[in-house]
Amino acid sequence: VLVTAGAQQAFDILARSLVRPGETVVAIEDPGYPPMRVAFAAAGARLVPVPVDQEGLIVEQLPSDAGVICLCPSHQFPLGASMTMARRRALLEFAHRHGAVVIEDDYDGEFRYDGNPLEALHAADRHDLVFYVGTFSKSMLPALRLGFVVAPAWALPAMIAVKNCLDWHCPSWVQAGVAEFIAAGHLTRHVRRMRNVYRGRRQFLMKALTQNFGRWLSPIPSSYGMHLAAIAKPGVDCDLLAQALARRNIRIHSLRRFYFGQPIENGLIFGYGAADQQQLEQGLVALHDELGSL
Ligand SMILES: Cc1ncc(COP(=O)(O)O)c(C=O)c1O
Repeated sequence: VLVTAGAQQAFDILARSLVRPGETVVAIEDPGYPPMRVAFAAAGARLVPVPVDQEGLIVEQLPSDAGVICLCPSHQFPLGASMTMARRRALLEFAHRHGAVVIEDDYDGEFRYDGNPLEALHAADRHDLVFYVGTFSKSMLPALRLGFVVAPAWALPAMIAVKNCLDWHCPSWVQAGVAEFIAAGHLTRHVRRMRNVYRGRRQFLMKALTQNFGRWLSPIPSSYGMHLAAIAKPGVDCDLLAQALARRNIRIHSLRRFYFGQPIENGLIFGYGAADQQQLEQGLVALHDELGSL
């Protein structure tokens, strides 16, 4: 395990260790998490967007020359699918056959609402090709800048060398504090408590979207995390909506900004990690207002 300054530094270290500039093909989910692809682009990767559906990344559409495959199998970002077992098997089989490695970004795996968290893709890896990236940004707080990579032993020496070049190590006192917090059981209790809080917000949001926004939006059910995606009906310009709401001090993202290639779906991403029910309600009233005046 290599401790990193958040998942973002893990992506940077992996990119610097695995990418041969101008040569390595890195397959990324589209839509996906822009900061992750930025790390690979900065290392000179040839990025290839791969579409996702309700079963996760579409394995048949991976480029045969992919050297690195990046994805969020537990909770696809931002659309929300959990990758099916069949797809997971196909992905590991593809990677093994093509000599590719897989980067599993499990950014919010602690927050599953329909049962225990799914087993990581990493656990099914028999060929030492999966890098599991975790973070404390969602389970604790992003300002900690603490994350980690569970890496195959063959890759660790290069990764440690990169980490040393970047900043030697994450602050020891932060690591020691978090270790103690975990060992005393506080993180488990915190996650359990927050899972109930987020579950309540998610149910509230889902109900409101289904009951009051059906003319404009279809929310995508998903069982993880702190955000929900909703696909917009034709004629709803989500970029303009997001701008109009920003002028009212309400942050909501248009789905289009998460695409690397040509956007396929038009929609909105609702975050409920930092907004309580009252703030969500205010945001929804403003959104209803804006939609009504389209
Ligand atoms: C898809 C995804 N991956 C990773 C992260 C975590 O990033 P970090 O640990 O750098 O804060 C986030 C945070 O928003 C995310 O949405």
